[in-house]
Amino acid sequence: MNKEAMKMVKAKDLTYEYVRVLETDHGTKEEKVAALKNVNIEINKGDFVAVLGHNGSGKSTFAKHINALVQPTGGTLWVDDMDTKNDELVWEIRQTAGMVFQNPDNQLVATVVEEDIAFGPENMGVEPKEIRKRVDEALATVRMSEYATHTPSKLSGGQKQRIAIAGVLAMKPKCIVLDEPTAMLDPVGRRDVMETIERLNREEGITMILITHYMDEAVRADKVFVIDDGDLVMQGTPKEIFSQVETLQKYGLDVPQVTEVAYLLRKEGVELPADILTIEEMVGAICQLKSTT
Ligand SMILES: Nc1ncnc2c1ncn2[C@@H]1O[C@H](COP(=O)(O)OP(=O)(O)OP(=O)(O)O)[C@@H](O)[C@H]1O
Ligand SMILES: [Mg+2]
Repeated sequence: MNKEAMKMVKAKDLTYEYVRVLETDHGTKEEKVAALKNVNIEINKGDFVAVLGHNGSGKSTFAKHINALVQPTGGTLWVDDMDTKNDELVWEIRQTAGMVFQNPDNQLVATVVEEDIAFGPENMGVEPKEIRKRVDEALATVRMSEYATHTPSKLSGGQKQRIAIAGVLAMKPKCIVLDEPTAMLDPVGRRDVMETIERLNREEGITMILITHYMDEAVRADKVFVIDDGDLVMQGTPKEIFSQVETLQKYGLDVPQVTEVAYLLRKEGVELPADILTIEEMVGAICQLKSTT
């Protein structure tokens, strides 16, 4: 495979400007504001990446570009080599990169779970026999087969999100963009949705792009991107990113709890590694300390 063919998403100087209307003493004035500024990003096929950034930094705007819900006002965004500015490719792009949003209630359209999942492939013109197969497979993949004939509105938030993911899966995407999919869920729902995301990435090879405010979710990604005020300001492995506690704080972000404890202990002179991300790593590092003193 050549280098370009390995990319699922590539942004070259991606810029998105919108017009803000300001009230002034002399009526209204229009002003252009950039939600994304010359962003250059490459996301490899098969990767699980997390996108972080404080409120209003441009994460959702970036996500919407991948699904061709919005088009760049400057620069270019390719999804699997398809330029999202090409209107003829919009449906193929949306089929390639599915999208899951924060509020599960806004994504489920039918009154029966299996009909909801069939909705996407039906719109794509998939034949009924194949739709049946895809619906059953998608439900099994998100471990919701027994709810096939249930009413979505009666499910828990986590179950609804897994149905939303199943609906995307039924369109056989190569990539799924999830915009804060666990933000409205309880801990059990969060865990189940995260487990589903990671399993789909590992076992089905689907590229996962997870936008999240939860650092413990980002820790599990292959790569982390940080956006601040429309700029891509950091990228690297979770260890590379979270070991930079002060830089992250500058961008209004936290680090995982154990990483912060390690950081504070280091400041007190305790010789711990800067890139501790999990409790297991912390325990290991502390045991090492004991054995050397
Ligand atoms: N079409 C638009 N019209 C007006 N404002 C917009 C538009 N698109 C984006 N914005 C603004 O651009 C900025 C980035 O918004 P975006 O929703 O992408 O941020 P975000 O990182 O997803 O934030 P959050 O964490 O709150 O979800 C915000 O200030 C938002 O108000
Ligand atoms: Mg957002």
